[in-house]
Amino acid sequence: MRLVLVGPPGAGKGTQAEFIAAHLSVPKISTGDIFRANVTQGTPLGVEAKRYMDAGKLVPDDVTINMVRDRLAEPDAGEGFLLDGFPRTTPQAAELDKLLADLGSALDLVLELVVDDDEVIRRLSGRRTCRGCGKIWHVEFDATTREGICDRCGAELFQRDDDKPETIAARLREYSEKTAPLVDYYGAQGKLVGIDATGPVEDVTVRAIDALRSYG
Ligand code: AP5
Ligand code: ZN
Repeated sequence: MRLVLVGPPGAGKGTQAEFIAAHLSVPKISTGDIFRANVTQGTPLGVEAKRYMDAGKLVPDDVTINMVRDRLAEPDAGEGFLLDGFPRTTPQAAELDKLLADLGSALDLVLELVVDDDEVIRRLSGRRTCRGCGKIWHVEFDATTREGICDRCGAELFQRDDDKPETIAARLREYSEKTAPLVDYYGAQGKLVGIDATGPVEDVTVRAIDALRSYG
């Protein structure tokens, strides 16, 4: 299955992507994760991306599209994939359609995680990520993480640089200006299905998998 997850920063895309990709047995491709790995490694791509990420802005389309094109050409993406955080602008979506059409395929479904701004701010402010295994936690909802240690692998947890309040506000603005129009773009293609992404993580996963079942 070729699936896209869309939703505002903090909607739970990364959290759900892990479960949904495992359920579908497809690779999870997160542009945010790829950019962050490049930042950590200090590559030229990472140096460029960091300027935008720290300001809560989107990385330019051409840079992002080239990166995704390379990733989708890898053998593990041949039979299907779950894209988390891409596309994020209408030109990115159009380019993805073109890229897949050239390969003789197309997206199957776009799953929108629907959450309001207050909940998103609460989720982002308390997010912690594991330096060892990459698992995403929340200080309020995952009591075991209060000591700053991952309950899965024992490594240290950290707070993302772009989860500061002023950067969160900028990311929400970018989302409503540049990414929200994708709802109409994919709605017009009949590929969009929205689910309520509030409530416990496991409940959201059940809704997501039900949605895939009814549309797949
Ligand atoms: P990216 O990493 O994609 O960030 P984002 O879209 O802002 O999304 P987040 O990762 O912040 O949130 P999420 O929806 O994955 O939520 P999570 O599961 O972590 O992108 C970062 C930057 O990279 C961008 O700003 C941009 O600069 C650049 N970039 C990336 N892709 C790009 C593109 N295509 N084009 C251009 N630039 C691009 O959950 C959040 C928190 O909530 C966690 O603590 C989690 O534990 C908690 N939580 C999750 N679900 C629940 C629940 N049901 N109940 C309670 N808590 C929950
Ligand atoms: Zn861990």
